[in-house]
Amino acid sequence: MKLSKIVIASCLVLTGFGASAQKAARDAKMDAYINKLMAKMTLDEKIGQLNLPSIGFDVTGPILSQGVEGKIEKGMVGGVFNTYTPNAVRKLQELAIKKTRLKIPLLFGYDVIHGHRTIFPIPLGLSASWDMPLIQKTARAAADEATADGLNWVFSPMVDIARDPRWGRVAEGGGEDTWLGSQIARAMVKGYQGEKNDLRREDAVLACVKHFALYGAAEAGRDYNTVDMSMRKMTETYLPAYKAAVDAGVATVMSSFNEINGVPAAANHWLLTDLLRNQWGFKGMVATDYTAIMELKNHGMGDDAQVAKLALVAGNDMDMVSDLFIGELKKLVQAKKLDVKYIDLACRRVLESKYKLGLFDDPYRNISEDRAKNNIMNAEKLALAKEAAEKSMVLLKNDNNTLPLQAGKKIAFVGPMVKNQRDLIGNWSGAGDWKKATSFWDALQAQYPSNKFTYAKGANILDDQALIDKLNPHDAQIVLDSKSPADMIKEAVEKAKDADVVVAMLGEAFGMSGEAASRSDIGLPVNQQNLLKALRETGKPIVLVLMNGRPLTLQWEHDNTAAILETWFPGTKAGDAIADVLFGKYNPSGKLSMTFPRSVGQIPIYYNAKNTGRPVSDQKYTSKYLDIPNTPLYPFGHGLSYTTFGYSDIKLSKNTIRNGERLQASITLSNTGKYDGEETVQLYIRDMVGSVTRPVKELKGFRKLFLKAGESKTVTFNLSTDDLKFYDINMKYTTEPGDFKLFIGTSSADVKEADFKLL
Ligand code: NOJ
Repeated sequence: MKLSKIVIASCLVLTGFGASAQKAARDAKMDAYINKLMAKMTLDEKIGQLNLPSIGFDVTGPILSQGVEGKIEKGMVGGVFNTYTPNAVRKLQELAIKKTRLKIPLLFGYDVIHGHRTIFPIPLGLSASWDMPLIQKTARAAADEATADGLNWVFSPMVDIARDPRWGRVAEGGGEDTWLGSQIARAMVKGYQGEKNDLRREDAVLACVKHFALYGAAEAGRDYNTVDMSMRKMTETYLPAYKAAVDAGVATVMSSFNEINGVPAAANHWLLTDLLRNQWGFKGMVATDYTAIMELKNHGMGDDAQVAKLALVAGNDMDMVSDLFIGELKKLVQAKKLDVKYIDLACRRVLESKYKLGLFDDPYRNISEDRAKNNIMNAEKLALAKEAAEKSMVLLKNDNNTLPLQAGKKIAFVGPMVKNQRDLIGNWSGAGDWKKATSFWDALQAQYPSNKFTYAKGANILDDQALIDKLNPHDAQIVLDSKSPADMIKEAVEKAKDADVVVAMLGEAFGMSGEAASRSDIGLPVNQQNLLKALRETGKPIVLVLMNGRPLTLQWEHDNTAAILETWFPGTKAGDAIADVLFGKYNPSGKLSMTFPRSVGQIPIYYNAKNTGRPVSDQKYTSKYLDIPNTPLYPFGHGLSYTTFGYSDIKLSKNTIRNGERLQASITLSNTGKYDGEETVQLYIRDMVGSVTRPVKELKGFRKLFLKAGESKTVTFNLSTDDLKFYDINMKYTTEPGDFKLFIGTSSADVKEADFKLL
C-alpha cells in the first residue's frame, strides 16, 4: 500500500519535471527564432508590430484607422481587428506575407464576446447558469467558429466585477461576485485557448482578458468614468477575476479606459508592469483599448509624444487605433527620450504571440471556405445555443404556479418582444446575424399551432425619440409602429380581456445596454410600463417575460404580476428556448449573478457587504433608508424552479478545525414538488472576527444537482482552510483563528446556518 503510493508520487514528480523541461525547450526554441528575426528588423519594422488598427465592419469610437492596407504593405501593422471571413482575412494576410520585407504574419482580432456567428446568451445571462462546463463549451464553440472565419484573437473574456447596474457593460460580464467571476474567467480562457492551452491548434484563439483593471467600478455607473478605490478593495474584490484568467494561461490582456486612483490604466506602470508582470508573472502581450493612448491626452497626461511614451513604458505592447506608437516612438528614440529596449520588449511579446499561434509556420491557419461552411452555425452549435439560453433564464417569481403555461389555455401574448428578432442576440453579438435568430412567435407557432393564442404588440420598445436618437443607429434601429401608443395599448387590452392568461414580453432594446449605454433610470421604458399598467387593469394573471442586459428596477412589476421570467438577451435560439421554458419542457434553473435593486437609490447594492457598526434594525439610528428596506428586490443567487426544493439542516464533520485540515459540510436536498428539476446549492461563509472587517457573506462554493420529483440527495462540500483566507491588516493572505459561520442555501438570502471555529 505504502509502496504503491510512493511509486505514484514519484511518477507525478517525473511527469511534472518532464513537462517543465519540455516547456523550457519550447521556450528556448521560440527565443532563438525570435532573436534571429528581431536581429533583421529595423526600428520602423519593430514599431510597426505594435500597431493595431481597425479595418472592416464595426467601430466603437471615431473611425481613425485610414489606409490600413497601405500600412500593412509598408510593415506598419502588427495586427488588425474587425475583419473576418476566410476571404477577407486571406487578402490582408497576403499583403503582409507577400509585400513586406520580413513576411511577418498579422494577428486578426475581433470582439467575439458571447459567440461568433452562433450567438449564445449575453455573458451576464450565461453567468446566471452557474454552469462552468457549459460556459467553457460556449467559448470553445465561439473559438471554433471564429477560427473558421479567419480570426486568431478574441477580445474576451470580460471579467470586470460590477456592482452598479446603471453601467451598461454589466451585460458583458459575469456579475458582482469575485469567486463566481473567477470561475467564469478560468472556464472561458480554457474554452477559447483549449483545455491544454495548445494555441497551435487550428481552432484555438488567443483570449484577451479585459478590461484591466477595475473598469466595472466606474463612478456612478457612467461609462469610461473615474475609478478611485482602496488597495484593499481592489485586491479582495476586483483583481482576483483578472488574476484567475492569468493563472489559467490567458495569452493577452487589454488595458482599460478608466483611471485608477489618478493614473489612467493605459499609462499605469504599477498596474501593467509591477502587478501584472512582476507579481502575477504574466508573460503574454498587452493591448490597449480603442484609442486609449490618444485619450490619455484628455485625461491630462501630456501631448502625443508624452502619452505614447507613457503607454509603452507602462507596459502596453499594442496600440489599438491611436496610431501614436507608429507616429511618435521613433522620434522619441531619435531624440534620446525613449530607451529602445521598451520597443524591443513590446515587439518581442507581439512576435511571441504570433509564434505561439503557429503563424510563422502557417499564416493562414488552414482557413478555408469549407471549414467555415462545416463549422459555422452547425447543428451542434445551435443545440448548444438553445441549451445555454434555457440554462441562463432565471425565474424571478411564480405565484400560484402560474408557470408553466398550459398550451390548451387561451393565452394573449403581448409586447414588443413577442415577434422581435432584432434584439434577441443582444449587444456585442459579434458576427451574429439577428435575422437568423428564432423569434418567440415563430417558435411558438412551430411548436404549438393553436388558435387559442392571440397577439398584440401593445407598445414600441421605446417611444422616446430623444433616447432612440442616442442609441447607436448601427445597433438599434427602432422603427416606431404606425399605430399610436394609445391604440396599441387598446388593442392589447382587448386581447387580454379575452384570455385566461396574459404573457407580456417586455424589455430593453439591446442597444440600451453594452458600451456607452449607461442609464440613470433602470426601469422598463415608460411606454412599456404604461402597457403593463393597462393590462393589470383587466385583472387577468400576468406573466412578465423580460429581455434586458442589466438588472432592472421592477418593484411595481413584482407587486402586480403573477410570474416573472428573466431571459436576458438569449441569442440565436432565443425563441425556442423561451417557448420551452414557458411551457415547461425545460424547468428553469438559472440563478442571478447580480443583485436586482428595488430602486436606483440603493445602488451600489451587493450581497457580500459589510455589517457596519450599526446594522439595520428597528432602531432609528441604524444603517438604513427611511423610504425603502435595505434588502434588494431579488438577491444574488436567487432563482426559482417549477418544482420546490427542501433543505435539511447543515451537518458539519466537526465544529473546530486547524489550519491545513478540511471540514465537510453536508445537507440533504429534496425535490418536494411535482417537476424534475435542477438546483444550484450555494455555500457561503462569514468570518465573525478579524483584524479587518469581513463581509456578511462570501460565496465559497456551489453544486448543481438534478433531482427527480420526490428524490433526495445529500451534497457534501469539502472546505479547506485556504477557503477561509483573506488579506489581513498587513495585506497578508492568510487565515486568522476564530469563529466562522457557514451557510448553505438556495440564494444568498435564503440559507441554513452552522457555526465552527478555526483554532
Ligand atoms: C472598446 C471596448 O471597450 C472593448 O471591449 C473592445 O474590445 C474594443 N472597443 C474593440 O472593439
